[in-house]
Amino acid sequence: MRAITTMPPKGGVELSDIDLGSQVGIKVRTYRTGICGTDKEIVEGRLKFARPESGNSLILGHEAVGIVEEPDGSSDFKEGDIVVPMVRRPGSCRMCQLGRQDYCEDGDFVEAGIRGKNGFMRDEFTDYPRFLVRVGSRSVLDLAVLTEPLKNVMKMKEIFQFLRMRLPWYCEDSTLSCKNMYVFGTGTEGLLISSVFKSIGMNVVEVNRHPLGENVMDYLDYNKIDYLDTSNESLENKVKDVPMDAAIDAVGAMDVLKEITDNIRNNGIAIMFGTSGQLPSSTYEVLENIVDRNIVVVGSVDGAKEHYAEAIRFIESHGASLQMGRLITGTYKPEDLKVFTEKEKQEIKKVIAWS
Ligand code: BGC
Ligand code: ZN
Repeated sequence: MRAITTMPPKGGVELSDIDLGSQVGIKVRTYRTGICGTDKEIVEGRLKFARPESGNSLILGHEAVGIVEEPDGSSDFKEGDIVVPMVRRPGSCRMCQLGRQDYCEDGDFVEAGIRGKNGFMRDEFTDYPRFLVRVGSRSVLDLAVLTEPLKNVMKMKEIFQFLRMRLPWYCEDSTLSCKNMYVFGTGTEGLLISSVFKSIGMNVVEVNRHPLGENVMDYLDYNKIDYLDTSNESLENKVKDVPMDAAIDAVGAMDVLKEITDNIRNNGIAIMFGTSGQLPSSTYEVLENIVDRNIVVVGSVDGAKEHYAEAIRFIESHGASLQMGRLITGTYKPEDLKVFTEKEKQEIKKVIAWS
C-alpha cells in the first residue's frame, strides 16, 4: 500500500510502497488525513520527540478518518462504519490504565504518526476497537478529519470549565457572556478554539501578528468572532476596551505567554497549547505575573477518548451551522508531497484524500 513516511529525527517526507505484513485488529480504509504543525515539524526534523515504531522510518499522520472495511468480530463495529483513530496509546502508568493517557505520568506512551507508532497517512490501517471512535452521521464524513485537532480543544474546554469553577467567575446572569477569551493563533487549532469558546457563550477575540486571509476573516465574521491584528493595533490598547479575562495560546512562541500574563485580568485563566516556541526573555517577569496575580497557566496536550466523542458530537451538531467546511481549504492526492513544505496563500486545513 501507499504510505507517507519520514525518517525521524532527520525528517524528510516520501510516498512509498510499503508492506507491513499481516496485522491484527479492525481493518480501516483511510478516507482523509489532515496535516498540522506537528507533521510539518516532524518533516522539517524539528520535533525532538518524533521517533519511528521500528526500523528508521515512521508513517506520518495522526489526524484521520476512515471507513471500516473488515471488522474483527470482537466488537460491534460494522463494515462501512466511519471511524476516527486515536493518536495517543497508553503505556502502563495509572493514568494510562484509566484511559487518560493524555495525562500520562511517566511518558510511557506512543503516538501514531508522531512517536513510536506508525500513523494513518496510508491507504489502510488496522486498529483495536478501543482506539477507534465512531462517527455516527455520514453527513459529517468530510468534516470528521477535524475530530483530532478538535479533541484537543475539548480538553482545553474541560480544563477551562474546571479552572473557572475555582471562584464565582461567571457573569451576573450566570452565563459567560461578559467574559472575553483571547485566542492567539489563527491556524486550524486557533479557529477551532475560537469556535468552541464562542459556543459556550464567551466573547472571543482572535489575535494574530499580521493581517488575515480573506477566508479566515470570513469564518470569523460569520461566527461573530472579534479579531485583533497586532501589526495594526496593540494588544495593550485592545484590552482597554475588551478586557482579557482568559486566553489560549495556540502559537507557542514564548513571548505570547508574556503578552498574556502582561495583559490578562486578575484571576484570569491562561491555557497554553502551542509548543513551537523559544524560551522567554525574562522568566522572572512571567513567573511573577503568574504567581502574584493568581493566573492559572495550564499546559494542555492531547485529549481522552471522551474528547474525541465530544468532538464528533460537536461537528455533528454545529458543523453545518458554523460552516466548518470552510476550514478545509484544500484536498490533495498522496503524491502531492509539497503540501508538507509549501504554504498556500489562504490555507487553513489541507487534507489528503486516500480513497
Ligand atoms: C496532537 C496531540 C499530540 C501532540 C504532541 C498534536 O498535534 O494533536 O494529540 O499529543 O501533537 O505529540
Ligand atoms: Zn495535530
